Amino acid sequence: MDKLRIEGRRRLAGRVEIGGAKNAALPAQAACLLTDEAVSLSNLPAVRDVRTMTRVLEGLGAESSADGGDRLTLRVPRIVAEEAPYELVKTMRASVLVLGPLVARHGRARVSLPGGCAIGERPINFHIEGLRRLGAEIVLEHGYVEARAERLRGAEYSFPFKSVTGTENLMMAAALAEGETVLRNCAQEPEVVDVAKLLRAMGAEISGEGTDEIVIRGRTSLGGARHHVIPDRIEAGTYLAAAAMVGEDVVVAGCDPEAMLPILEQFAAAGVEIERGDDSLRVCGPRALAAQDLRTAPHPGYPTDMQAQYVAMMTQAHGTTLVSETIFEHRFMHASELMRMGADLRIDGHNCVVVGPRSLTGAQVMATDLRASACLVLAALAAEGETVIHRIYHLDRGYECMEGKLGRLGAAVERIR
Ligand code: EPU
Repeated sequence: MDKLRIEGRRRLAGRVEIGGAKNAALPAQAACLLTDEAVSLSNLPAVRDVRTMTRVLEGLGAESSADGGDRLTLRVPRIVAEEAPYELVKTMRASVLVLGPLVARHGRARVSLPGGCAIGERPINFHIEGLRRLGAEIVLEHGYVEARAERLRGAEYSFPFKSVTGTENLMMAAALAEGETVLRNCAQEPEVVDVAKLLRAMGAEISGEGTDEIVIRGRTSLGGARHHVIPDRIEAGTYLAAAAMVGEDVVVAGCDPEAMLPILEQFAAAGVEIERGDDSLRVCGPRALAAQDLRTAPHPGYPTDMQAQYVAMMTQAHGTTLVSETIFEHRFMHASELMRMGADLRIDGHNCVVVGPRSLTGAQVMATDLRASACLVLAALAAEGETVIHRIYHLDRGYECMEGKLGRLGAAVERIR
């Protein structure tokens, strides 16, 4: 298993290019199941989850061709299998995104139930209830969810809690349903908006994406499309945090500042000075960071996917910060490893109290999930001495070549194979 070795306290300067958003790319790939025509996606990030999704789709009948760059063309002339198997779903829960499109086009789908993961229980009951509302018959058996429907019918469904992939799954299913579907209390994340944009390019009739009510008028078929995936706001936010902690003059390029407002406002309140360009952000640091409480929330709130990185940043801030995680139950797995590096943290249920600033020291640490890994990388960049981060396959799921991008900014990072 690969590890990262980081020698801390190097000043970062220069420009880092942000890739496409993993969480917009995955549903866009799944949307290819809705048509027998080619869907060509560009700005796909070179991360493991995108490769896993391609494998899931190939198992279902997709023909894929990559152009060697960031473009992937997927075509599913025929659905040849209806199962997303346990072996793949267990490595990536976002595989559940094939459920809606598969049952909508093929009338049958069998997807392994993802189960819990390091950050929480993460049930898919809203996906299931919503599909039932659209007329699918659903059985949960042998660890699988099996859905059947002659043709889905438009319906109304109100999410009990905003769900990103839940909204995407139902939006895709409804695009091929008969009649109109109204989804309420929808997730409003930029990634949801991007999927709606792709579906519209494929011929779907959708309105309201980006608000909490989305209306979809189903079609009997959808066509091919070309789509450019939005930049990854979480990757961009992670490099901003690095710049705030150990940067001199860092430009985060190729991002969408507008989509990042909740992050930018929080960072500004914590004393990070950020210059905004049209598609770039510049941090001239480090400035003294100030403790600033944080509460994660669905968009347009502060994203849970940027919580762990913020905790790392607050270890270097003056004062006491209360970080409240409202989306997932166990998303402070990074805390115990950070404490081994000298952070002063206390966890109490959904809250983490960070007392700063603390001088961190390098250590051997273990990554437990994607964003926890990013948090450890940030801590290592600020720590004195050498940190070795184990199990960085988590990091590779969602960050493209982080050691390369950080290295070009002047960090001393090395991958040990
Ligand atoms: N929930 C349910 N039932 C459901 C669906 C969700 O109870 O059927 C709960 C979840 O357990 C959670 C909350 O609702 O407490 C919100 O979860 P959501 O469904 O929005 O999460 P997700 O769609 O599974 C996506 C991202 C996550 C990100 C969350 C929240 C993708 C592929 N994944 O997950 O990304 O944390 O939204 O923004 O889009 C990451 O990239 O590191 C990552 C974990």
